[in-house]
Amino acid sequence: MAGGQCNQGDIRCRVHDEPVSRREFSKSVAATIAALTTLSVVVEACATLPTAESIHGEITPEGSTRRAELKGPTFTTWTEIANLARLAPTPHNTQPFRIRPVDPHTADIIALGDRFLPEEDHGNLYMASAFGIFAATIEVAAAALGVQVKVVPAAAIDVAGLDRASAPTTLGTATIVGRMVPSTDASLLDLRRTSRIPYVDRLVDADTWTALRTIAESRGHRLLEYSDHDVVDATLRLNVNAVIDNLGLVREREEIRRWYRTGPTPQFGDGLWERPLNQSAFEIRTAFGSPGLFHLPVIRQLATRRYLDTQRGTRHIVLLCGSFATWPELVSAGRALFGIWVEMARYGVYVQPMGSMLTNPAYAARIAERFAVTDCWLVMRAGYSDVPPRAPRLESILI
Ligand SMILES: Cc1cc2nc3c(=O)[nH]c(=O)nc-3n(C[C@H](O)[C@H](O)[C@H](O)COP(=O)(O)O)c2cc1C
Repeated sequence: MAGGQCNQGDIRCRVHDEPVSRREFSKSVAATIAALTTLSVVVEACATLPTAESIHGEITPEGSTRRAELKGPTFTTWTEIANLARLAPTPHNTQPFRIRPVDPHTADIIALGDRFLPEEDHGNLYMASAFGIFAATIEVAAAALGVQVKVVPAAAIDVAGLDRASAPTTLGTATIVGRMVPSTDASLLDLRRTSRIPYVDRLVDADTWTALRTIAESRGHRLLEYSDHDVVDATLRLNVNAVIDNLGLVREREEIRRWYRTGPTPQFGDGLWERPLNQSAFEIRTAFGSPGLFHLPVIRQLATRRYLDTQRGTRHIVLLCGSFATWPELVSAGRALFGIWVEMARYGVYVQPMGSMLTNPAYAARIAERFAVTDCWLVMRAGYSDVPPRAPRLESILI
């Protein structure tokens, strides 16, 4: 299934066998584009988004000696582990974590603060939880190579200050503790993807939810799942309103603008590209170039309809809830999310996190009220979909 293949009869192919909804989809896109095209000149002039051509070299290793050392035989195992660990998901595909091998058995895990999103991710909570995801990914990646690795987070981390640290921060240490029979889970790291395309209008069965709930509980979290049509529709609608309203928050918008990319998805890279995002270059440029347009009722309505159309077929809303404040809690939350997400890949279930509702306090309050919960830190839509396009990864995360 990786690489966009899907077999006839495969549930993931069926989403394309629905002529009526495809027609409706095309009509809605055409209407939206027609309404907006007249504004495109203004938009093009205002939007400055990176493209494949405009993105230059990444953070490089500290010098040619170090580069040669990293390519040499001493660190072969870390190179192979890092290659798979690149697949860890991060908010806006910012990929802020690096592996710095110290010796053949030990590596530090480093955070690059300039890749954090402090305006949107208040207090760096989601980025800190993404370290938990990264730690778990390293362990699964190593296991797939027949190597047992344990990642231990640093004892005390000033989470809120991570984006302002004057130098990269060591968030933990990965240690090779033994050898093992290679696990067969490497493919799950690639199968796990964010799916922002329409889902197949089919419920995920109860046993799958039980298995996923058990994983959340093993990490001290709760997975709440809703499939009532009204709840699903209202939550998707609330999310699109949050997405649009958040575009009006200047500092947040300018922070995330840096991570939106138009053009063909490159083989190596970071950020959110138009195909994995399931948004056209025109839509992305409009959002960042002329966010004020979305306050016009007609444009807002058209944009809402178009966005919701990309989410048609959604049958489940999932909430992850539990402690999400201190460094150990955030690491544990990330490990819970990773465990659930990878297990979903095993069952062919996809998700799209919908963070805009929880990073905006007004919307977070509405989620708390609607679901009668006070400690939920992630809302997602979930279900079956065609295989979504892969988001790129940096060529190397070793430093
Ligand atoms: C903590 C966290 C929050 C995320 N929030 C969102 C979100 O609000 N909306 C969204 O579309 N994707 C969200 N994502 C998905 C990332 O954008 C995605 O993982 C990244 O682009 C890499 O793509 P992949 O998951 O397909 O490998 C989130 C991911 C993480 C780890």
